[in-house]
Amino acid sequence: MQTATAIEHPSHVAPDRVIDFDVYQPMHDGLGFHESWKALQDSGLPDVLWTPQNGGHWLVIRGKLISQVLADYANFSSHTILVPKDTAGVAYRVIPISLDPPEHRPFRNLLNDDLSPKRIRSVEDSIREIAVDLIEAFRSKGQCNFVTEFAEQLPIRVFMKMVNLPLEDVPKLKYLVDQFTRPDGKLTYAEVTRLFLDYLEPVIEERRGKEGKDMISRMLQSKIGDRFMTDAEAANLCIQVLVGGLDTVINFLSFVMVFLARNPETRHILEKSPDRIPSAINELLRRFPLITVGREITHDMNFEGVHLKQGEMIMLPTILHGLDEQENADSMSVDFDRTTIRHSTFGSGPHTCPGAFLARTEVRLMLEEWLSRIPDFNIAAESEVGYTGGIVAAVKPFSLAWDASTTRA
Ligand code: HEM
Repeated sequence: MQTATAIEHPSHVAPDRVIDFDVYQPMHDGLGFHESWKALQDSGLPDVLWTPQNGGHWLVIRGKLISQVLADYANFSSHTILVPKDTAGVAYRVIPISLDPPEHRPFRNLLNDDLSPKRIRSVEDSIREIAVDLIEAFRSKGQCNFVTEFAEQLPIRVFMKMVNLPLEDVPKLKYLVDQFTRPDGKLTYAEVTRLFLDYLEPVIEERRGKEGKDMISRMLQSKIGDRFMTDAEAANLCIQVLVGGLDTVINFLSFVMVFLARNPETRHILEKSPDRIPSAINELLRRFPLITVGREITHDMNFEGVHLKQGEMIMLPTILHGLDEQENADSMSVDFDRTTIRHSTFGSGPHTCPGAFLARTEVRLMLEEWLSRIPDFNIAAESEVGYTGGIVAAVKPFSLAWDASTTRA
């Protein structure tokens, strides 16, 4: 990370706002993912910055402003949410995330129905069962690769069941999702979209007009105002649901378990009082946010001392809301007694994550089952913890270890 007046920037951007920072590769100076973002926030720079990276864009680094811009669709449109705008941004115009109200609303209503607390509660027992089966498969070994053997398994198995897609398709779909959220350059965004559509179009064709009870079938049976979705709309909606369902929870669980492995005192609070797990999850969500999205500026305007131009992109790291000292005192500490918790980990405004209840449920069931079966665990001696930046940040595969003789069946 460096500030430099020498960096080329548009003439309406003041030099003191310019910084060379890649929002998708924020790690610097050997710091971890959250620590790197936090260092940027604490560096004394103005609240709104401009970086030449990823096609050049604005970047907000204060929690309250991040939440405000995310929700203000009149000034900051979701028409484009990724940078570079001309490549990733144009290719990722899926439904409903790239629609503003009022067009956004009817599509969003479908998701709200399908991911409602009532519906998720009806599958809670089966989620718990999957969590228990996964833990029992490695409990007596005293070790597991947490990412590949648990985090990648639980949310994906739950989700594939909800959308009624075969588990053997997971590697293909997960690869495509990862190419969106943490691209490695092997495919362009346009290619990823095409491959998603090649997969989804026959699924939609096959389920259209049938009485299926899975999430995709139910969305096809529901109306957008007075009509059904077109095939193209349905495919685009499915892409967004798959991206949400197949990636975020995996990475959040991984960040949480690295923390709990390294902080036994905090872990023991939850292990001794499992009734505290539901409220503790909100504090963990505040401390371990992982998504960076953006908005397209709808018209020229003055905003927080800078001049924004129509069509420019402004990026909003949700990471910097929960970690902002102005919003949450002693923000890098995990404190389950915190009374007021402010974050935008699930976003803010009309696009606030519809999968939040499912995500919280999966995290709760996982913690309840894990901590009652494997109370004491560490990062395995041979395992290094590393991070990958991106639209959704990830923890690289790491192993946890425990004394198998002390675990509880
Ligand atoms: C810890 C887990 C999760 C986190 C941190 C997370 C975070 C977010 C955030 C920040 C947004 C707003 C993006 C924006 O404003 O542009 C969002 C939207 C969305 N998420 Fe999640 N999410 C999670 C889990 C899930 C799950 C499990 C699903 C689906 C099963 C899901 C589906 C979606 C969808 C469909 C949207 C778009 C909503 C809209 O445009 O109205 N998410 N999520």
